[in-house]
Amino acid sequence: MYRLASLLAVFAALSLAAPVAAQRTLDFAPYAVPAEGAVAVTVRQGAPLEGAFAEVDRASGGALQRAVAAAGFVGDRGVVLNLPGVGPYHQVLLVGVGNDAPSTRLLEDVGGLVGQWGLLSAVPRIELLWPDASQPAAGAHLALGASLGQYAFRTYRTPRPDAPVLGKGELVLRVADAEGSRRAWNDDWSAVAEGVRFSRDLVTEPANTIHPESFVERTRAAFAGVPNVSIEVLDVPAMQKLGMESLLAVGQGSERPPRLLVVRYRGGPRDQAPLAFVGKGITFDTGGISLKNPENMWRMKYDMTGAASVTGTVLALAKRGAKVNAIAVAALAENMPSGTAVRPGDVIRTMSGKTYEVINTDAEGRMALVDAIWFVQERDRPRVLVDVATLTGSQVTALGDEYAGLFSRDEALAADLLAAGAASGEEVWRLPLHPSYAKDLESPIADLRNVGSTGGAGASIGAFFIGAWVQEGVAWAHLDVASMAWRDAPVLPTVPLGATGYGVRLLDRYVRDHVEGAAAE
Ligand code: BES
Ligand code: MN
Ligand code: ZN
Repeated sequence: MYRLASLLAVFAALSLAAPVAAQRTLDFAPYAVPAEGAVAVTVRQGAPLEGAFAEVDRASGGALQRAVAAAGFVGDRGVVLNLPGVGPYHQVLLVGVGNDAPSTRLLEDVGGLVGQWGLLSAVPRIELLWPDASQPAAGAHLALGASLGQYAFRTYRTPRPDAPVLGKGELVLRVADAEGSRRAWNDDWSAVAEGVRFSRDLVTEPANTIHPESFVERTRAAFAGVPNVSIEVLDVPAMQKLGMESLLAVGQGSERPPRLLVVRYRGGPRDQAPLAFVGKGITFDTGGISLKNPENMWRMKYDMTGAASVTGTVLALAKRGAKVNAIAVAALAENMPSGTAVRPGDVIRTMSGKTYEVINTDAEGRMALVDAIWFVQERDRPRVLVDVATLTGSQVTALGDEYAGLFSRDEALAADLLAAGAASGEEVWRLPLHPSYAKDLESPIADLRNVGSTGGAGASIGAFFIGAWVQEGVAWAHLDVASMAWRDAPVLPTVPLGATGYGVRLLDRYVRDHVEGAAAE
């Protein structure tokens, strides 16, 4: 009996472990041009005869230049050309970098393109050549990009027995400062990669494996042994006691009970008010009684992206030992239609005491978030509160997949998030919170209604509703990431098809450059 129990425990632990995705091991070596093998070389637009390209060309007796001319490759940013059998080289992968000055974002993109290519290749060893010393610890950024570019989720794919295994082996980053790069990767940037990969894994998993309780268990497994972290989980009775009718209402139609997950990381001074990151964690959104159309409903497995991205962010901060106090709050529930589900017309009293009328049960993200936001403000008195949510189809219509929607009444916080977006590559575009939206959210019988009455400005109305639960003196921003959560095609260097993990790099950058960085000044 005991043996059976321990065997079961082992199985449980295995099923909780992060899925094993193919990945080349990343290594760092001093810059040098190898005499053979598979190499990746960057090419500036219209200026190919310099740097590593020139050296590889010389070693191949001019074969590289002839091949490039024949292919019409000019080095546009993000364009990749794979040349097999160039002189002594088994393969030369050319990566265009355009005319942009080197930046961490460019390095991450280069790493990402090589990582994506490496995933599709059977060569055992790829060497990426980056002689430029203008960016400190350049190799760590190449590695971050490569780690994210070669992300793959293969838990449920049966490998073909007759085909070679692709994407295995190593990727060597040959850079000016190999040791500095290795240190920056191990101590700092690899944590960001882990946060993004954690988030992508949770988002990719379907709703039959990720529901509120398993989200919590995956989070516990990811944080196991990470110092200065405490995890609090509220179950249904605990939420009832606190009066969280709103988060409970979203989950009340489901067999999978809701949870409020709170991960607290203390890396800053004891007396410093924390940053709170609150994520929408709808593990599946059918719309509830206001049922969605079937066509794209499968997508709603990624309606917990906000929760995965705030949890992944705090995982990254804790693993890299960021000098900050930060909290991730995940509002976890499944929005299902059933005999116990919340109905249109129901009036909900939220934890704060404020009431609203449910006009549409498909506007469940804001319902789940307001109790989570109120809870963390009451308990932890954060100075900054950023919520992340796949909140509205309107955000998709307004911004497409280039930008998340940013809503804030705090000019400094908005500016910091815009800057962090540009630096990290996870960009945001600011949208309004006009005072007139209050009229749109008036109800004859409650304090508010959960959707606007005019049908316009849907993303802003959603943000405005959430803002009604933000307390005086808290710098708040809302990020609507509906369009950013999932990519239907691998068009970005560091984002393969599927779950993007959007938000982790943005919020990590925000903390690095504008919280930790500001404290150092
Ligand atoms: N999860 C959806 C929003 C969404 C749409 C996310 C597409 C990702 C891709 C959200 O819960 C929702 O259903 N929003 C409604 C709000 C409406 C009822 C006011 C919408 O946008 O239609
Ligand atoms: Mn919905
Ligand atoms: Zn939703």
